[in-house]
Amino acid sequence: MDIQTQSIIDRLSGAPLPRHIAIIMDGNGRWAKQRSLPRSAGHYEGVTSVRRATELCSDTGVGFLTLYAFSTENWNRPQEEVDTLMTLIGMAIERETPDLVRNNVRLRLIGDIERMPADARDRLERCRQATSHCSGLTLSLCLSYSSRWEIAEAARRLARLAADGSISADEIGEEAVEAGLATSGMPAPDLLIRTGGEKRLSNFLLWQAAYAELYFTDTLWPDFGKEALADAMADFQCRERRFGRTSEQVEADTAFQADS
Ligand code: IPE
Ligand code: IPE
Ligand code: MG
Repeated sequence: MDIQTQSIIDRLSGAPLPRHIAIIMDGNGRWAKQRSLPRSAGHYEGVTSVRRATELCSDTGVGFLTLYAFSTENWNRPQEEVDTLMTLIGMAIERETPDLVRNNVRLRLIGDIERMPADARDRLERCRQATSHCSGLTLSLCLSYSSRWEIAEAARRLARLAADGSISADEIGEEAVEAGLATSGMPAPDLLIRTGGEKRLSNFLLWQAAYAELYFTDTLWPDFGKEALADAMADFQCRERRFGRTSEQVEADTAFQADS
């Protein structure tokens, strides 16, 4: 780890860090527009921010980083931009694979990957396989993903199981739905960040983010560096997560845990 990263980490308090961070990486187009560059230049620059976020999460021991890279609705963008994004995603993941392996980062793919062009899909799949033995950070890329698509898929799966008698309607609870989600097996995100100034979820992790701490920043994704991510982590450390209980209950629990 370089000295700069170490000093960024040193500024964090000893309070627990999020186990799972999810990010809506927004603002690439505006970043490019501000510089009179084509939107694709913003997407290219955004890859650097992905690398920085991955490194900081690895270095701080965050277990899961989930990035919204391309939504189901993004297929409706001009074909030229979609093509550029698909090429960029494939190229970037191939280039980053050795570093991911070196940093013990495991790639997980979330979304309707079948809709992606074969070339990008192959490169992603090769990276997934090359990092499948890694046991450090799990980096999930959400591609051709939308939460409503994912929930509908889970419902379809349960309906099939019910139709063939493998499960009864009464057995369908939160756990059964969760098991059918693309994120199954991962803890829910503790911290959900959106860059680029908008304050909406845009169809991202609607189920999983039920109790996520939300953090919105005007910083555009290509400008979002390690310091900006550490600011979001520090903000998270100051939040009191009550999960429906009272502040007094949470404090009593924390005191009990400190004693035992
Ligand atoms: C986010 O940046 C990247 C993707 C959605 C693929 P945008 O391309 O949405 O950038 P803005 O919001 O237009 O600035
Ligand atoms: C959300 O950004 C999707 C990703 C970051 C991949 P958008 O730019 O597509 O969201 P909207 O359209 O502004 O809600
Ligand atoms: Mg946007």
